[in-house]
Amino acid sequence: MPVSLSTVHVINHLDRDYLRQALEHDVRVGLTASPKWLPPKWFYDAAGSELFSRITRLPEYYPTRRELAILRARAADLAAESGADTLVELGSGTSEKTVLLLDALASAGTLRAYTPVDVDAVTLSAAAQRLARRFPGLAVRAVCADFERHLALLPRAGRRMVAFLGGTIGNLDPVAREVFLKELRATLRPGDTFLLGADLVKDVERLVAAYDDSAGVTAAFNRNVLRVINRELDADFEPEAFEHVALYDGRQDWIEMRLRASRDMRVRIGGLDLAVDFAEGEEMRTEISAKFRPEKLREELVAAGFKVRRRYTDPTGDFTLVLAEV
Ligand code: AVJ
Repeated sequence: MPVSLSTVHVINHLDRDYLRQALEHDVRVGLTASPKWLPPKWFYDAAGSELFSRITRLPEYYPTRRELAILRARAADLAAESGADTLVELGSGTSEKTVLLLDALASAGTLRAYTPVDVDAVTLSAAAQRLARRFPGLAVRAVCADFERHLALLPRAGRRMVAFLGGTIGNLDPVAREVFLKELRATLRPGDTFLLGADLVKDVERLVAAYDDSAGVTAAFNRNVLRVINRELDADFEPEAFEHVALYDGRQDWIEMRLRASRDMRVRIGGLDLAVDFAEGEEMRTEISAKFRPEKLREELVAAGFKVRRRYTDPTGDFTLVLAEV
């Protein structure tokens, strides 16, 4: 019997120079600001991606399980509603949930291509190879890119469903979110759809526990950004000298993760020729994870030029998936 092999292409918009410059820029801007901050995209080297994958299996971290429950129940409906032949996944990571969507598109008979998009080349190509083996005949075009900067460079062939899952949109502050949604909308054509996964506002204790687990995996994930900076920018952060902090800002509707200096410290960042002082107790923001109210999310999508076609929420009301069209 003939075997139809899947083809895997990796397109890289993030060569070493680009990544290095972006990291240098972000670290210089963030660590010389007051208060200090770092953007969450630098968590995800190979070790950070592995830690995140452990987070998704923690009892306290509900979003992944809730989103999976919605996908299990609704993947066939999503496939039929979208009519997509090409799945583009932003921030694909290990692509663990993607199989459900690909299975549904394959059963609907439309599936032709999958384009995972991620900043980490190692995680990206491993996921691309795994899915190519699992779906014979699938054209896998992996794109190593930053979804905040390279949306216009994504492949436009086919009838696309652009999926942005896991609640990763929560990493963008309201202004960045508005820009992102408008830019994404501008790249879509009639017939294309946007599948958005978003975490919903809920009880503060459960929200905080999801970002401050008892096994300390999220704390290790948070400190990993310091290891990335040590390695890439020749810095001498002592990750263990920083405490993990997770708090909920009820005015902004977002979780903040911070790293708190446990004593006065001077950190040298060789690659930037920079010394940074931390005072005991000083907190540096490393992530926001916005939580949404369904009506407000709809309004944001509409303001960016989308029409909401379907909205699904899991039975506990924890998480939502929205299918939007242009
Ligand atoms: C990958 C951005 C969706 O915000 O819940 C998990 C990242 N940070 N635990 C989230 C994260 C700490 C996660 N996202």
